[in-house]
Amino acid sequence: MRTFTGLMGLFWLSLSLTLTADENEALKINPHHIPAATCGGCHPKIYEQWSTSMHAKSTPLTNSVFAHLYQKSAGDPLQEGVTIDGEYPVCLQCHAPNAAKDGNTKLDEFNYKEGVNCVVCHTLREYKGHADQQTGNNVGLSAYKRSENYLQAPSGRYLSPVQDAAHPFPMEPNQALLRTNRVCLGCHTRYDQVEMCQIGMEVPERSVTCQSCHMPKTDGLANHAVLSAHNDAVLTRSVVVTLDVQHKTDSLALTVHLENMLPHPFPGGVPYRNALVKVTAYSEKDELLWSNFTSYPPDEKDDPDAVLKYTVKQNKEAPLVPFKKSAVLKDNRLQAFEKRQLSYQLPKKDVYIVRAEVLFNLLTLSLIEELGDSIEGDIRNPVVAAIAEMRL
Ligand code: HEC
Ligand code: HEC
Ligand code: HEC
Ligand code: HEC
Ligand code: HEC
Repeated sequence: MRTFTGLMGLFWLSLSLTLTADENEALKINPHHIPAATCGGCHPKIYEQWSTSMHAKSTPLTNSVFAHLYQKSAGDPLQEGVTIDGEYPVCLQCHAPNAAKDGNTKLDEFNYKEGVNCVVCHTLREYKGHADQQTGNNVGLSAYKRSENYLQAPSGRYLSPVQDAAHPFPMEPNQALLRTNRVCLGCHTRYDQVEMCQIGMEVPERSVTCQSCHMPKTDGLANHAVLSAHNDAVLTRSVVVTLDVQHKTDSLALTVHLENMLPHPFPGGVPYRNALVKVTAYSEKDELLWSNFTSYPPDEKDDPDAVLKYTVKQNKEAPLVPFKKSAVLKDNRLQAFEKRQLSYQLPKKDVYIVRAEVLFNLLTLSLIEELGDSIEGDIRNPVVAAIAEMRL
């Protein structure tokens, strides 16, 4: 116990010493304008993780893919008064919630461009659901009751004698929200007006939580990097693929079994995410003898069943967004926990190896072309989410 108090004393001393005048000043501002770096001063590891997450890159000023579509459907992110169909741009309710709270659209003010930052999630108090009698649809921030006075925390535990000396406002425990799917659903569930971006509706209330996969505890703390489609290691945990081959006289009957291990669709709700099930047969000398896709880049018409994608109507003036339910043309994704089979007959001669790969793409080829050089990194390239190979 003595060690504990001794350590905490030291800790506390170093905390008061490390708070700069700026940080002290920051703690006096509107809690919803607190930048993540202020919290990061005392929670460095979580801050570092969050900084790499898509939550920290969710606005037109930080994400070029989003910027492209936002500018087409809403307008300039550096102007006030931007609208979609005469209304406040619905996108910002989820993509820049602190701006949405203030009703502003000039996103280089305050902490707006930080998108889904610490104070966004840690002031959500209760998930109301999406239907609201008065306002019609609740979406993003407006799907929650929020706290103006209390920081929402898993336990509310604060290891200092003076509870709110450092925290911008006192904490209260709220596991009912923070340790359940409810904290995510306001922004991640489908709602009636916009079909895009959704993922969580299919998750039964009591199933495994989003956090158990997306915020695992590392070093004793919930990991805030929220890894998923942008992370190859996580992607390989999504679909299980197995092969089954039957020998006929001149042909092989090949069945590819797919099983979605996730409690939500694969791929997710952004319509240009897509996965191709590529099936190939090779000779002993590694020559390609057969493939369900005959060209590269693959022509989806070769094998439409092997294209796992959410297809929406394209509109030249306002491509993709904001699209309505009626714009959904086809949904060929693997639904939550779905098992599916694809069957092929191929010539048997010389076949030595058969292989099935699930190739995941963050963007469609047409969008990659449209975006040109504005996209950074290697998000153009497919990632092998699952692979199975058999030697005959
Ligand atoms: C209900 C909340 C919500 C609304 C409203 C919303 N989005 Fe999203 N958006 C999300 C979520 C959550 C994701 C991440 C989903 C995923 O990766 O599966 C996302 C992802 C995206 C992406 C992919 C970004 C990337 O990094 O690849 C784009 C682009 C996008 N949204 C555009 C828009 C536009 C434009 C609007 C407004 C017309 C909009 N969204 C409205 C929640 C929302
Ligand atoms: C997308 C929502 C979201 C954002 C953004 C977010 N958090 Fe969290 N945070 C959570 C959730 C959910 C938990 C509880 C996880 C659990 O216990 O399962 C949590 C837990 C924590 C904890 C307790 C850690 C533990 O495991 O005991 C701290 C501290 C924390 N967050 C600080 C921060 C800071 C600092 C930031 C910004 C850099 C931040 N959070 C951003 C949702 C968020
Ligand atoms: C001056 C230091 C300091 C600042 C600034 C600070 N925190 Fe903390 N925070 C702490 C300490 C100390 C604890 C308790 C020890 C722990 O659990 O890590 C804590 C605990 C937490 C917890 C977890 C409590 C629980 O239930 O287990 C959350 C959540 C949290 N802080 C969020 C935030 C957010 C969000 C911000 C910014 C708005 C912030 N903190 C700013 C020092 C700080
Ligand atoms: C306030 C709204 C909001 C809340 C609450 C929220 N998210 Fe998000 N989340 C978003 C937005 C917006 C994006 C998309 C960022 C982008 O790509 O532009 C996103 C992106 C993601 C991604 C990355 C998807 C990708 O393409 O890599 C994951 C995973 C994710 N969120 C999981 C969660 C989990 C788990 C929770 C609950 C603990 C949660 N989110 C809570 C708004 C939110
Ligand atoms: C069993 C583990 C697991 C659970 C539980 C889970 N996910 Fe996922 N999630 C994954 C994996 C693995 C991926 C990567 C595959 C993909 O992108 O489709 C993923 C992808 C995502 C994506 C990005 C989808 C895309 O293709 O852009 C979002 C957003 C997301 N999850 C949100 C959630 C939310 C919200 C919940 C809770 C309602 C949740 N997940 C529950 C494992 C899980």
